Amino acid sequence: MAIQPVKTAIIGAGNISDIYLQNCTAWPILDVVACANRTVARAEQQAAKYNIPRACSVEEALADPQIELIVNLTVPAAHGSIALAAIRAGKSVYNEKPLAMSREEARLLLDEAHARGLLVGCAPDTFLGAGLQTCGGLLDAGTLGQPVGATAQMITRGPDYWHPNPAFLFERGAGPLFDMGPYYLTWLISLFGPISQVSGAVRTTYPERTIHSEPRRGEVIRPEEPTHVASLIEFHSGPIATLLISFDVWDMYAPSLSVYGSAGTLTLPDPNTFGGPVTLRSDMAEGGREIALTHSHAENSRGMGAADLAYALRTGRPHRASGALAFHVLDTMHAILEAARTGRRVELISTCERPAPLPAGMAEHQLDV
Ligand SMILES: NC(=O)c1ccc[n+]([C@@H]2O[C@H](COP(=O)([O-])OP(=O)(O)OC[C@H]3O[C@@H](n4cnc5c(N)ncnc54)[C@H](O)[C@@H]3O)[C@@H](O)[C@H]2O)c1
Repeated sequence: MAIQPVKTAIIGAGNISDIYLQNCTAWPILDVVACANRTVARAEQQAAKYNIPRACSVEEALADPQIELIVNLTVPAAHGSIALAAIRAGKSVYNEKPLAMSREEARLLLDEAHARGLLVGCAPDTFLGAGLQTCGGLLDAGTLGQPVGATAQMITRGPDYWHPNPAFLFERGAGPLFDMGPYYLTWLISLFGPISQVSGAVRTTYPERTIHSEPRRGEVIRPEEPTHVASLIEFHSGPIATLLISFDVWDMYAPSLSVYGSAGTLTLPDPNTFGGPVTLRSDMAEGGREIALTHSHAENSRGMGAADLAYALRTGRPHRASGALAFHVLDTMHAILEAARTGRRVELISTCERPAPLPAGMAEHQLDV
Protein backbone atom coordinates (compact mmCIF):
# COMPACT_ATOMS: atom_id res chain seq x y z
CA MET A 1 0.00 0.00 0.00
CA ALA A 2 1.31 3.48 -0.89
CA ILE A 3 2.37 5.55 2.10
CA GLN A 4 0.69 8.95 2.39
CA PRO A 5 3.31 11.73 2.12
CA VAL A 6 3.86 13.88 5.20
CA LYS A 7 2.85 17.52 4.72
CA THR A 8 5.93 19.53 5.58
CA ALA A 9 6.92 23.18 6.02
CA ILE A 10 10.44 24.54 5.89
CA ILE A 11 11.07 27.35 8.41
CA GLY A 12 14.24 29.39 7.79
CA ALA A 13 14.93 30.13 4.14
CA GLY A 14 18.64 31.06 4.38
CA ASN A 15 21.87 29.74 2.94
CA ILE A 16 21.29 26.05 3.67
CA SER A 17 17.64 26.04 2.58
CA ASP A 18 18.53 25.52 -1.10
CA ILE A 19 19.85 22.02 -0.67
CA TYR A 20 17.02 21.11 1.74
CA LEU A 21 14.36 22.41 -0.65
CA GLN A 22 16.01 20.65 -3.58
CA ASN A 23 16.21 17.34 -1.68
CA CYS A 24 13.00 17.42 0.37
CA THR A 25 10.92 18.03 -2.76
CA ALA A 26 12.51 14.89 -4.29
CA TRP A 27 11.51 12.49 -1.48
CA PRO A 28 8.08 10.90 -2.18
CA ILE A 29 7.50 10.63 1.59
CA LEU A 30 7.69 14.44 1.99
CA ASP A 31 5.14 16.87 0.57
CA VAL A 32 6.64 20.34 1.07
CA VAL A 33 3.59 22.60 1.18
CA ALA A 34 5.05 25.77 2.71
CA CYS A 35 8.23 27.78 3.08
CA ALA A 36 8.37 30.28 5.96
CA ASN A 37 10.92 32.84 7.10
CA ARG A 38 11.18 35.76 9.49
CA THR A 39 11.30 38.02 6.44
CA VAL A 40 8.52 36.64 4.25
CA ALA A 41 10.04 38.14 1.07
CA ARG A 42 12.90 35.65 1.37
CA ALA A 43 10.43 32.78 1.88
CA GLU A 44 8.61 33.94 -1.27
CA GLN A 45 11.88 33.87 -3.22
CA GLN A 46 12.69 30.30 -2.17
CA ALA A 47 9.11 29.08 -2.59
CA ALA A 48 9.04 30.40 -6.16
CA LYS A 49 12.43 28.84 -6.94
CA TYR A 50 11.36 25.36 -5.76
CA ASN A 51 7.66 25.43 -6.71
CA ILE A 52 6.43 25.37 -3.12
CA PRO A 53 2.72 26.26 -3.06
CA ARG A 54 2.85 28.65 -0.10
CA ALA A 55 5.26 31.27 1.30
CA CYS A 56 4.33 32.64 4.71
CA SER A 57 5.40 33.84 8.14
CA VAL A 58 6.54 31.43 10.85
CA GLU A 59 3.27 32.00 12.75
CA GLU A 60 1.18 31.18 9.68
CA ALA A 61 3.10 27.94 9.05
CA LEU A 62 2.64 26.88 12.68
CA ALA A 63 -1.08 27.68 12.56
CA ASP A 64 -1.69 25.67 9.36
CA PRO A 65 -3.53 22.51 10.46
CA GLN A 66 -2.55 20.47 7.38
CA ILE A 67 1.19 20.71 8.23
CA GLU A 68 2.49 17.70 10.19
CA LEU A 69 6.24 18.26 10.07
CA ILE A 70 8.37 21.39 10.46
CA VAL A 71 11.92 21.36 9.09
CA ASN A 72 13.60 24.10 11.15
CA LEU A 73 16.54 25.71 9.32
CA THR A 74 16.80 28.90 11.37
CA VAL A 75 19.96 30.04 13.17
CA PRO A 76 21.07 28.02 16.24
CA ALA A 77 19.73 30.58 18.76
CA ALA A 78 16.20 30.05 17.36
CA HIS A 79 16.30 26.23 17.03
CA GLY A 80 14.91 25.46 20.48
CA SER A 81 12.15 28.08 20.60
CA ILE A 82 10.84 27.44 17.08
CA ALA A 83 10.93 23.68 17.59
CA LEU A 84 9.04 24.02 20.88
CA ALA A 85 6.45 26.27 19.22
CA ALA A 86 6.05 23.62 16.50
CA ILE A 87 5.54 20.86 19.07
CA ARG A 88 3.03 23.01 20.96
CA ALA A 89 1.21 23.54 17.65
CA GLY A 90 0.91 19.74 17.34
CA LYS A 91 3.62 19.22 14.70
CA SER A 92 6.66 16.97 14.67
CA VAL A 93 9.91 18.79 14.05
CA TYR A 94 13.30 18.20 12.43
CA ASN A 95 15.92 20.80 13.45
CA GLU A 96 19.17 21.83 11.88
CA LYS A 97 21.97 21.25 14.40
CA PRO A 98 22.46 21.83 17.24
CA LEU A 99 19.14 20.62 18.69
CA ALA A 100 18.94 23.63 21.03
CA MET A 101 21.25 25.96 22.94
CA SER A 102 21.13 24.35 26.36
CA ARG A 103 20.46 20.91 27.78
CA GLU A 104 17.44 22.35 29.62
CA GLU A 105 15.90 23.77 26.45
CA ALA A 106 16.49 20.49 24.60
CA ARG A 107 15.10 18.39 27.49
CA LEU A 108 11.90 20.45 27.59
CA LEU A 109 11.52 20.03 23.82
CA LEU A 110 11.91 16.24 23.97
CA ASP A 111 9.64 15.89 26.99
CA GLU A 112 6.83 17.97 25.47
CA ALA A 113 7.11 16.08 22.16
CA HIS A 114 6.99 12.75 23.99
CA ALA A 115 3.94 13.83 26.02
CA ARG A 116 2.12 14.77 22.80
CA GLY A 117 3.17 11.67 20.83
CA LEU A 118 5.18 13.80 18.36
CA LEU A 119 8.65 13.16 16.96
CA VAL A 120 11.79 15.27 17.18
CA GLY A 121 14.66 14.76 14.79
CA CYS A 122 17.84 16.70 14.20
CA ALA A 123 20.69 17.14 11.74
CA PRO A 124 23.28 16.07 10.93
CA ASP A 125 21.98 13.23 8.82
CA THR A 126 25.24 12.73 6.94
CA PHE A 127 25.72 9.46 8.84
CA LEU A 128 22.84 8.06 6.76
CA GLY A 129 24.90 8.56 3.59
CA ALA A 130 26.73 5.92 1.58
CA GLY A 131 30.14 6.68 3.16
CA LEU A 132 29.39 6.16 6.83
CA GLN A 133 26.86 3.38 6.25
CA THR A 134 29.63 1.50 4.42
CA CYS A 135 31.95 2.06 7.42
CA GLY A 136 29.28 0.89 9.86
CA GLY A 137 28.79 -2.27 7.79
CA LEU A 138 32.53 -3.02 7.94
CA LEU A 139 32.58 -2.49 11.70
CA ASP A 140 29.50 -4.69 12.23
CA ALA A 141 30.94 -7.42 10.00
CA GLY A 142 34.01 -7.54 12.27
CA THR A 143 36.42 -6.44 9.50
CA LEU A 144 38.15 -4.07 11.93
CA GLY A 145 38.27 -6.59 14.77
CA GLN A 146 37.67 -5.09 18.21
CA PRO A 147 37.02 -1.30 18.09
CA VAL A 148 39.96 0.55 19.69
CA GLY A 149 39.28 4.23 19.10
CA ALA A 150 39.20 7.12 16.67
CA THR A 151 40.81 10.46 15.89
CA ALA A 152 38.58 13.24 14.60
CA GLN A 153 39.86 16.59 13.47
CA MET A 154 38.25 19.63 11.86
CA ILE A 155 40.68 22.53 11.61
CA THR A 156 40.15 25.70 9.61
CA ARG A 157 40.65 29.46 9.87
CA GLY A 158 36.87 29.75 10.17
CA PRO A 159 33.63 30.62 8.36
CA ASP A 160 34.46 34.35 8.59
CA TYR A 161 36.49 33.59 5.42
CA TRP A 162 33.60 32.17 3.32
CA HIS A 163 30.09 32.35 4.86
CA PRO A 164 28.03 35.33 3.61
CA ASN A 165 26.64 35.92 7.10
CA PRO A 166 29.18 34.35 9.51
CA ALA A 167 28.49 36.31 12.72
CA PHE A 168 25.94 33.79 14.09
CA LEU A 169 28.56 31.04 13.84
CA PHE A 170 30.54 32.74 16.63
CA GLU A 171 27.58 33.55 18.89
CA ARG A 172 26.58 31.68 22.05
CA GLY A 173 25.41 28.19 20.99
CA ALA A 174 27.65 28.08 17.89
CA GLY A 175 31.47 28.32 17.62
CA PRO A 176 33.36 25.40 16.04
CA LEU A 177 32.27 22.94 18.73
CA PHE A 178 28.51 23.48 18.43
CA ASP A 179 28.61 24.21 14.69
CA MET A 180 30.90 21.41 13.46
CA GLY A 181 31.13 19.11 16.51
CA PRO A 182 27.72 17.52 15.79
CA TYR A 183 29.01 16.01 12.52
CA TYR A 184 31.95 14.30 14.20
CA LEU A 185 30.19 13.30 17.41
CA THR A 186 27.12 11.97 15.58
CA TRP A 187 29.35 9.84 13.33
CA LEU A 188 31.30 8.50 16.29
CA ILE A 189 28.13 7.68 18.26
CA SER A 190 26.56 6.05 15.20
CA LEU A 191 29.61 3.76 15.00
CA PHE A 192 30.50 3.13 18.67
CA GLY A 193 27.22 3.83 20.50
CA PRO A 194 26.82 6.26 23.41
CA ILE A 195 29.61 8.22 25.13
CA SER A 196 30.33 7.70 28.83
CA GLN A 197 32.66 10.59 29.72
CA VAL A 198 34.80 13.37 28.28
CA SER A 199 37.73 15.62 29.14
CA GLY A 200 38.56 18.86 27.38
CA ALA A 201 40.61 22.01 26.98
CA VAL A 202 39.65 25.14 25.05
CA ARG A 203 40.99 28.53 23.99
CA THR A 204 39.98 31.58 21.99
CA THR A 205 42.98 32.70 19.94
CA TYR A 206 41.38 35.76 18.32
CA PRO A 207 39.07 37.73 20.67
CA GLU A 208 38.22 39.89 17.62
CA ARG A 209 37.87 38.56 14.07
CA THR A 210 37.36 40.53 10.88
CA ILE A 211 34.97 39.15 8.26
CA HIS A 212 36.76 38.39 4.97
CA SER A 213 33.71 37.30 2.93
CA GLU A 214 31.18 39.42 1.06
CA PRO A 215 28.85 41.20 1.68
CA ARG A 216 29.94 41.90 5.28
CA ARG A 217 33.69 42.18 4.65
CA GLY A 218 35.40 44.32 7.30
CA GLU A 219 32.80 43.86 10.07
CA VAL A 220 34.25 42.75 13.40
CA ILE A 221 33.05 39.64 15.27
CA ARG A 222 33.73 38.93 18.94
CA PRO A 223 33.43 35.15 19.51
CA GLU A 224 31.11 34.15 22.39
CA GLU A 225 32.20 30.48 22.35
CA PRO A 226 35.77 29.08 22.42
CA THR A 227 37.22 28.77 18.92
CA HIS A 228 39.80 26.02 19.55
CA VAL A 229 38.59 22.87 21.35
CA ALA A 230 40.45 19.64 22.16
CA SER A 231 38.73 16.68 23.80
CA LEU A 232 39.22 13.10 24.90
CA ILE A 233 36.04 11.04 24.48
CA GLU A 234 35.33 7.64 26.07
CA PHE A 235 32.55 5.34 24.87
CA HIS A 236 30.53 2.88 26.97
CA SER A 237 31.49 0.14 24.49
CA GLY A 238 35.22 0.71 25.19
CA PRO A 239 36.80 2.77 22.38
CA ILE A 240 38.59 6.06 23.13
CA ALA A 241 38.54 8.97 20.67
CA THR A 242 40.26 12.34 20.43
CA LEU A 243 38.51 15.34 18.88
CA LEU A 244 40.24 18.56 17.77
CA ILE A 245 37.98 21.19 16.36
CA SER A 246 39.10 24.71 15.55
CA PHE A 247 38.37 27.94 13.73
CA ASP A 248 41.84 29.24 14.75
CA VAL A 249 44.12 27.24 12.46
CA TRP A 250 45.67 28.42 9.20
CA ASP A 251 44.40 25.57 7.12
CA MET A 252 41.82 25.38 4.37
CA TYR A 253 39.16 23.25 6.11
CA ALA A 254 41.03 20.02 6.76
CA PRO A 255 38.57 17.46 8.12
CA SER A 256 39.79 14.00 9.01
CA LEU A 257 38.29 11.05 10.79
CA SER A 258 39.94 7.65 11.30
CA VAL A 259 38.58 4.66 13.18
CA TYR A 260 40.93 2.10 14.65
CA GLY A 261 40.23 -1.56 15.34
CA SER A 262 42.40 -4.44 16.53
CA ALA A 263 42.51 -5.74 12.93
CA GLY A 264 42.61 -2.58 10.83
CA THR A 265 42.20 1.17 10.37
CA LEU A 266 39.39 2.85 8.47
CA THR A 267 39.88 6.31 7.05
CA LEU A 268 36.47 7.88 6.75
CA PRO A 269 35.21 10.60 4.42
CA ASP A 270 34.43 14.15 5.57
CA PRO A 271 31.44 13.73 7.95
CA ASN A 272 29.97 16.92 6.48
CA THR A 273 29.37 14.89 3.30
CA PHE A 274 27.44 11.76 2.36
CA GLY A 275 29.82 9.88 0.06
CA GLY A 276 33.32 8.39 0.20
CA PRO A 277 36.11 7.68 0.00
CA VAL A 278 36.39 4.96 2.62
CA THR A 279 39.85 3.46 2.96
CA LEU A 280 40.81 0.32 4.87
CA ARG A 281 44.31 -0.56 6.02
CA SER A 282 44.76 -4.02 7.52
CA ASP A 283 48.27 -4.91 6.38
CA MET A 284 51.30 -2.95 7.56
CA ALA A 285 53.20 -3.77 4.37
CA GLU A 286 50.49 -2.19 2.19
CA GLY A 287 48.84 1.22 2.21
CA GLY A 288 45.09 1.68 2.58
CA ARG A 289 42.80 0.33 -0.12
CA GLU A 290 39.61 2.08 -1.12
CA ILE A 291 36.43 0.18 -0.33
CA ALA A 292 33.49 0.24 -2.75
CA LEU A 293 30.46 1.97 -1.17
CA THR A 294 27.69 -0.47 -0.30
CA HIS A 295 24.88 2.07 0.19
CA SER A 296 22.99 4.70 -1.79
CA HIS A 297 22.86 8.48 -1.10
CA ALA A 298 26.48 9.38 -1.80
CA GLU A 299 25.54 12.88 -3.01
CA ASN A 300 24.58 15.81 -0.75
CA SER A 301 21.37 14.35 0.71
CA ARG A 302 20.69 16.83 3.54
CA GLY A 303 17.09 16.34 4.56
CA MET A 304 17.35 12.54 4.46
CA GLY A 305 16.97 12.52 8.26
CA ALA A 306 13.68 14.40 7.89
CA ALA A 307 12.53 11.84 5.30
CA ASP A 308 13.49 9.03 7.68
CA LEU A 309 11.48 10.78 10.42
CA ALA A 310 8.51 11.06 8.02
CA TYR A 311 8.66 7.28 7.46
CA ALA A 312 8.73 6.85 11.23
CA LEU A 313 5.60 9.02 11.54
CA ARG A 314 3.77 6.78 9.08
CA THR A 315 5.05 3.34 10.14
CA GLY A 316 5.81 3.75 13.84
CA ARG A 317 9.38 2.47 13.46
CA PRO A 318 12.18 4.50 15.17
CA HIS A 319 13.87 7.29 13.23
CA ARG A 320 17.64 7.47 13.08
CA ALA A 321 18.62 11.17 13.27
CA SER A 322 16.61 11.33 16.46
CA GLY A 323 16.13 13.91 19.19
CA ALA A 324 17.67 11.46 21.69
CA LEU A 325 20.83 11.17 19.58
CA ALA A 326 21.01 14.96 19.11
CA PHE A 327 20.45 15.48 22.84
CA HIS A 328 23.35 13.11 23.59
CA VAL A 329 25.52 15.08 21.15
CA LEU A 330 24.49 18.40 22.77
CA ASP A 331 25.13 16.98 26.24
CA THR A 332 28.59 15.82 25.08
CA MET A 333 29.49 19.29 23.77
CA HIS A 334 28.39 20.98 26.99
CA ALA A 335 30.29 18.33 28.97
CA ILE A 336 33.47 19.09 26.98
CA LEU A 337 33.17 22.79 27.92
CA GLU A 338 32.40 21.87 31.52
CA ALA A 339 35.47 19.59 31.60
CA ALA A 340 37.58 22.44 30.24
CA ARG A 341 36.20 24.86 32.87
CA THR A 342 36.69 22.52 35.82
CA GLY A 343 39.78 20.61 34.68
CA ARG A 344 37.88 17.39 35.45
CA ARG A 345 36.56 14.46 33.44
CA VAL A 346 32.77 14.84 33.08
CA GLU A 347 30.31 11.94 32.98
CA LEU A 348 27.41 12.39 30.59
CA ILE A 349 23.88 12.72 31.95
CA SER A 350 22.35 11.35 28.75
CA THR A 351 22.55 8.28 26.58
CA CYS A 352 20.94 7.04 23.36
CA GLU A 353 20.60 3.96 21.21
CA ARG A 354 23.08 3.48 18.39
CA PRO A 355 20.93 4.29 15.31
CA ALA A 356 19.93 1.21 13.30
CA PRO A 357 22.04 0.65 10.18
CA LEU A 358 20.33 1.22 6.84
CA PRO A 359 19.85 -1.78 4.57
CA ALA A 360 22.45 -1.90 1.78
CA GLY A 361 21.48 -1.43 -1.84
CA MET A 362 18.33 0.70 -1.41
CA ALA A 363 17.22 2.98 -4.26
CA GLU A 364 17.76 6.76 -4.04
CA HIS A 365 14.99 8.61 -2.15
CA GLN A 366 13.70 5.43 -0.60
CA LEU A 367 14.08 4.12 2.94
CA ASP A 368 13.09 1.03 4.89
CA VAL A 369 9.55 1.05 6.30
N1 LIG B 1 25.26 27.26 5.60
C1 LIG B 1 25.73 26.05 5.71
O1 LIG B 1 26.62 25.62 4.95
C2 LIG B 1 25.15 25.11 6.73
C3 LIG B 1 25.50 23.77 6.63
C4 LIG B 1 24.93 22.89 7.51
C5 LIG B 1 24.09 23.34 8.50
N2 LIG B 1 23.79 24.65 8.63
C6 LIG B 1 22.91 25.06 9.70
O2 LIG B 1 21.70 25.52 9.16
C7 LIG B 1 21.15 26.56 9.98
C8 LIG B 1 20.93 27.79 9.13
O3 LIG B 1 22.15 28.17 8.57
P1 LIG B 1 22.22 29.13 7.30
O4 LIG B 1 23.63 29.08 6.87
O5 LIG B 1 21.15 28.80 6.35
O6 LIG B 1 21.91 30.53 8.03
P2 LIG B 1 21.33 31.86 7.35
O7 LIG B 1 21.61 32.96 8.28
O8 LIG B 1 21.77 31.95 5.93
O9 LIG B 1 19.75 31.57 7.33
C9 LIG B 1 18.95 31.50 8.45
C10 LIG B 1 17.54 31.88 8.04
O10 LIG B 1 16.67 31.75 9.16
C11 LIG B 1 15.90 32.93 9.30
N3 LIG B 1 15.64 33.10 10.72
C12 LIG B 1 16.55 33.37 11.69
N4 LIG B 1 15.94 33.44 12.88
C13 LIG B 1 14.64 33.22 12.64
C14 LIG B 1 13.52 33.18 13.46
N5 LIG B 1 13.60 33.39 14.77
N6 LIG B 1 12.33 32.92 12.88
C15 LIG B 1 12.24 32.71 11.55
N7 LIG B 1 13.27 32.74 10.70
C16 LIG B 1 14.45 33.00 11.26
C17 LIG B 1 16.72 34.06 8.72
O11 LIG B 1 15.87 35.10 8.27
C18 LIG B 1 17.43 33.34 7.57
O12 LIG B 1 16.68 33.38 6.37
C19 LIG B 1 22.15 26.77 11.11
O13 LIG B 1 21.74 26.04 12.23
C20 LIG B 1 23.44 26.21 10.55
O14 LIG B 1 24.27 25.72 11.59
C21 LIG B 1 24.28 25.56 7.73
